[in-house]
Amino acid sequence: MSDQILIRGARVMDPASGRDETTDVLVGRGVIAEIGRGLADDGAEVLDAAGLIVAPGLVDLHTHLREPGEEHKETIATGTRAAAVGGYTAVSSMANTDPVTDHAAIVAEIREKAAQAGLADVFPVGAVTKGLEGESLAEMGEMVAAGVRVFSDDGRAVPTARMLRNALTYARAFPIGVVIADHCEEPSLVERGQMHEGVNSYSLGLAGRPAEAEEIMVARDIAVARLTGGRIHICHLSAARAVALVGEAKADGVRITAEVTPHHLTFTDEDLLTYDSNFKMHPPLRSADDRAALAAGLADGTIDAIATDHAPHAVEEKESEFDLSPPGTIGLETALAAVLTHAVAPGHVTLMRALEAMTSAPARILGAEGHGGPIEAGRPANLVVFDPNEEWLVEAPFVSKARNCAFLGKRLTGRVRYTMLRGDLTVADGKATR
Ligand code: DOR
Ligand code: ZN
Repeated sequence: MSDQILIRGARVMDPASGRDETTDVLVGRGVIAEIGRGLADDGAEVLDAAGLIVAPGLVDLHTHLREPGEEHKETIATGTRAAAVGGYTAVSSMANTDPVTDHAAIVAEIREKAAQAGLADVFPVGAVTKGLEGESLAEMGEMVAAGVRVFSDDGRAVPTARMLRNALTYARAFPIGVVIADHCEEPSLVERGQMHEGVNSYSLGLAGRPAEAEEIMVARDIAVARLTGGRIHICHLSAARAVALVGEAKADGVRITAEVTPHHLTFTDEDLLTYDSNFKMHPPLRSADDRAALAAGLADGTIDAIATDHAPHAVEEKESEFDLSPPGTIGLETALAAVLTHAVAPGHVTLMRALEAMTSAPARILGAEGHGGPIEAGRPANLVVFDPNEEWLVEAPFVSKARNCAFLGKRLTGRVRYTMLRGDLTVADGKATR
């Protein structure tokens, strides 16, 4: 193997710099060495990339890796392998592990295992409250010292406005940007709820999780962010009214960012009519109007980033009766294709905006240096090369240990060919290299 790789003839799309041109990219010693047309190969390994797109490696703000504690669902190694195959070079791992990621030793352990696997950089998210129990703040200072930038009790909302106030006030005191990412569902309105509350939940006889549960928590979070001056990030937006609130808050100068998942951009609560638990997740799939508002919010920048909420579960758990089936869909391997197929192809967002929401925007929120572009000489070679036109059928097995995927059995267009982490191919010809 040569220590240089020449990506020849690809369309380079880099949201961070605005570059969009067909050219060659030479990579060596972990960095982008040169960009230009007709570069000589000089013994480099050549990837013929005519017809393919090169973009910064994707960055996921919301991945459940399940290790430590639930390795039967996913491990750091299998989850980051799935990430690499999906075109990701960096993922942010959620804190609802067992034990909970609420102190520095676990953060270090996750990073070490991720480095051993060498498939993607992992940025552990720290819990806001000890044990995710909502009673007292976790060791945020210790975790910030260990490099944590995002805190979240994801799976549930930070329970009280006062707790959120304390967390945001504390977060603001750090000289580096620390952000609180909240799962916005008002708990007393979603207790035992199985799906979006509306005509379809009534006809299926399933308890509902109303859109208002999200609206209420987003409104609360905005008010507390304004009060404290702290940075709030809204996880997986799902409801039209919540998108509108985020837009108003941004216009008011509140320090707020937000994400949307590929599944909320694709499906609606109608997809639950067959009781397929792969469509059960929190927050739930909502109406076609909600879905349209999410796409519009993504297009106009109200929603900053696309995040997977990759939530692996064991087959036997997910296949239990609907009420008992744990919420969540995996998404790392399908995210790019889902976005290309269901947001870009129908014209809801441009390809450049979609890539921005999957690269530079999440990298900025996460403070993931070296990720998300720009694609420029001297920068770390964290890149994805994909075919925007390849059509494929989403089938199990996945690279992830899990198979609970909302896109299972669907055809998508767009497929990752190569992923490169600091100049090293983690994926070649669509397959993980380790
Ligand atoms: O559907 C979900 N699954 N939503 C969450 O917030 C948590 C996640 C999980 O951990 O499985
Ligand atoms: Zn969540």
